Amino acid sequence: MNFENILVENSNGLATITINRPKKLNALNKATIEELHSAFNSLDQDNETKVIIITGSGEKAFVAGADISEFAHFSIEEGGSLAQKGQEILFDFVENLSTPVIAAVNGFALGGGLELAMASHFRIASDNAKMGLPEVSLGVIPGYGGTQRLPQLVGKGKAMEMIMTAGMISAEEAKQVGLVNHVTSQEELLGLAEKIAGKIMKNSSVAIGAAIRAINDNFKDGVNGYTSEIKEFGNCFGTEDFKEGTTAFLEKRKPQFPGK
Ligand code: COA
Repeated sequence: MNFENILVENSNGLATITINRPKKLNALNKATIEELHSAFNSLDQDNETKVIIITGSGEKAFVAGADISEFAHFSIEEGGSLAQKGQEILFDFVENLSTPVIAAVNGFALGGGLELAMASHFRIASDNAKMGLPEVSLGVIPGYGGTQRLPQLVGKGKAMEMIMTAGMISAEEAKQVGLVNHVTSQEELLGLAEKIAGKIMKNSSVAIGAAIRAINDNFKDGVNGYTSEIKEFGNCFGTEDFKEGTTAFLEKRKPQFPGK
């Protein structure tokens, strides 16, 4: 995979996507969003890839938001289409992947940057990270799912305050409010992400995909998450991973999941 705005590494089932526009604090322009879609899509299609880590290059930013220079002159229709397309090809797309995505937030995660981290399945952060949705300071609101995912993660009151004030919170506060799961030093951030990925990779990738779908269904309009869970649970019984997992347990050995 050859890209201009992102780097993709993939070895032993673990892929790392690094957004690589450090001079623009990794701001998400149209080209970067399209490249991210393409990278996530091919990694998710690849049965060998078990976990994807998303991070930003440089020491300053994960992603400092959508690229303001690209949309400053947009009309109402263009603004609506920017949000719709972005949600479709990147933010909803990432949230609904069957391959787990961990956001390793290595600095500023603002606007679309925090929205990308929130669309990931969970987040860890370096202790210098700063997170916020500053859109109202530009006269706009979050458009890549931020008004929906932030309250899911931190509760309505905290989300209201963060969005209305356009303020940033520290990594430590983000951990306290449930926005990130772990905080570590910048040097140790990718190591920690890889360590957690290693624990995930020992388990059945088919069951993990089913769990992601069932959990996400809790937050979808008109979908009963309990019904989804029953369906996904039942389907697991038809997989080779389930046969291997239960047989290995009964034979007192470690499972070797075929991922099918
Ligand atoms: N879109 C486009 N360019 C951006 C950007 C964004 N969201 N965020 C940063 N950049 C660019 C800056 O314009 C600057 O480019 P330049 O060197 O060509 O002038 C470069 O990245 C470095 O940013 P700078 O503002 O000089 O760094 P700083 O350390 O002084 O401030 C931030 C860092 C993150 C506080 C500041 O860049 C910022 O507020 N960015 C916008 C955040 C935002 O509102 N995001 C939501 C967008 S919807």
